[in-house]
Amino acid sequence: MKAQPMPNNKSNQLSLEELTSFAKRRGFVFQASEIYGGLAGFWDLGPYGVELVHNITASWWRHFVNKQPNVVGLDTTIVQHPKLWVASGHVDTFVDPMVDCRNCQHRFRADHVADLDTTDLTKLKAALADKACPNCGEKALTEPRQFNMMFKTHVGPVEDSGSTTYLRPETAGGIFAQYDSVRETTRSKLPFGIAQIGKAFRNEITPGDFIFRLRELTQMELEMFVKPEAAEAAYADWKQYCMEWLHTLGLKSEHLRFHDHADDERAHYAAASVDIQFLYPAGFKELYGIANRTDYDLKAHSKNSGRDLSYFDEDTKARYTPYVIEPSVGAERLLMAILLDAYDEETVNDDTRVVMRFTPDMAPIKVAILPLSKKPELSSLAREIFSTIAGEWRVEYDETQSIGRRYRRQDEIGTPLCVTIDFDSLEDKAVTVRDRDSMQQTRIAIADLPDYIRDKLGTKA
Ligand code: GAP
Repeated sequence: MKAQPMPNNKSNQLSLEELTSFAKRRGFVFQASEIYGGLAGFWDLGPYGVELVHNITASWWRHFVNKQPNVVGLDTTIVQHPKLWVASGHVDTFVDPMVDCRNCQHRFRADHVADLDTTDLTKLKAALADKACPNCGEKALTEPRQFNMMFKTHVGPVEDSGSTTYLRPETAGGIFAQYDSVRETTRSKLPFGIAQIGKAFRNEITPGDFIFRLRELTQMELEMFVKPEAAEAAYADWKQYCMEWLHTLGLKSEHLRFHDHADDERAHYAAASVDIQFLYPAGFKELYGIANRTDYDLKAHSKNSGRDLSYFDEDTKARYTPYVIEPSVGAERLLMAILLDAYDEETVNDDTRVVMRFTPDMAPIKVAILPLSKKPELSSLAREIFSTIAGEWRVEYDETQSIGRRYRRQDEIGTPLCVTIDFDSLEDKAVTVRDRDSMQQTRIAIADLPDYIRDKLGTKA
């Protein structure tokens, strides 16, 4: 009798430790420099993590660039002129409150110890008054003070204050610096947007929670330049659009919610901002940030660079500085959310089957080619099939271990379809395709395989 899968409803019940160890065991995420003991806040993507992040960034580009009639892409450098970060306010205000323990010398985010969502030092000081050190338990915390999170570096051979600059803390800075060149070369009229995907660096006081709080991260940012009077409506529209996009990635609606920012939660440049929070093992936390940055950035860069970044509106003959609506998300936080929501366990024949229920678009490997034996005649046919379909999809070839074990391995990396080539295949020119979720097996003519896969994987959202 065919085994009936019994879902255990394990989805999103993973602890941080279980997730971290699963992600390592299955080749999604490894600790950076692990052979040297690791480096806090830095993580590498393994063979399946890198595929998944490619799928995430490709989907973002499709939804936030390709599908938008008025958005273009850009790729700016990580190191920019240091004046850019003075103008943007990051040199003065990109800070997190920090406390030290006089007893054990550990350092903490003051807002985390105080359990208060604010960077206001007076409020934090009051809340920390009788808090003990989370590490040693002593009541020996210093007063909170601000810590700038930008990584400093030097350009050129001389390490002096004249050569100091920073690794970008957000990709947005480069977009604002090229705003005018992009507008001119694309002859864009408001509203229009500039999108960028790239690395950003933050010297977080307490990195952690696996890949939730990193020191090196990948941001996917869109800066939409709009007329000031259109900013509020655009902000509301992008809020919804971002939420809808998260659903297409397979995240569960009950694990997502909006969290509007109070005045003291907002970044220094924002008039309004909202997080889309996801239910991580530590509770609901920020996944996606959407902000109305007003005309703060373009005005600041106009003033500091001497280049006039105002906009002449040919319809109204008025000159003004555009407002900016910015949806910004980290690829690694999304990776973590997708891993958590895809994870599932079910009982099959008294055995536990771990299955990553990725959407076909997110699945790192779309199809596994599994010849039943290593005999040359089967390998040769299997490799032929691999070559036929590997150009269109990311396909894995595996001829090791028993077929049952190979199916389980593919389930654990979330491969939607497994194609088994057996000795009958040599005669009937057909293969067996096994579906990840139902575990149903269907005999398909080799000639029909590409169409069958296309149909099963569906079109991209
Ligand atoms: N340009 C706007 C900006 O950078 P943010 O809220 O500081 O705003 C945007 O960051 C997004 O980048 C966050 O919602 C989160 O997804 C991601 N992010 C920020 N800091 C991060 C960190 N230390 N580790 C991982 N992801 C981070």
